[in-house]
Amino acid sequence: MSVITVQPSGKTYQAASGSNILAVLLAGGEAIAHKCDGKAECGSCHISLIDGRKSVSKIQPAENERLDMTVGVGSKSRLACQVIVGEEDLTIEILSI
Ligand code: FES
Repeated sequence: MSVITVQPSGKTYQAASGSNILAVLLAGGEAIAHKCDGKAECGSCHISLIDGRKSVSKIQPAENERLDMTVGVGSKSRLACQVIVGEEDLTIEILSI
């Protein structure tokens, strides 16, 4: 179990280990785009993973390819639908709505 904190609002969500960030946020009522419903095909769930990067799943080829086509990508960019939560608390910023 970990806690996902969304900046700048400071809202927090409890996340079970093994769940993905997008599913956790949607279940909690957070407004985050997800046009392809979590298939790494749209890039609309773009987030910056500010803290906790060591505990989450590594970027896989499909996510990497989609990020390459996404506007505003930085070194902390991830697709929320592709990030599997570990045991460490996370801090994120939603970049695309
Ligand atoms: S919901 Fe489309 S890439 Fe995540």
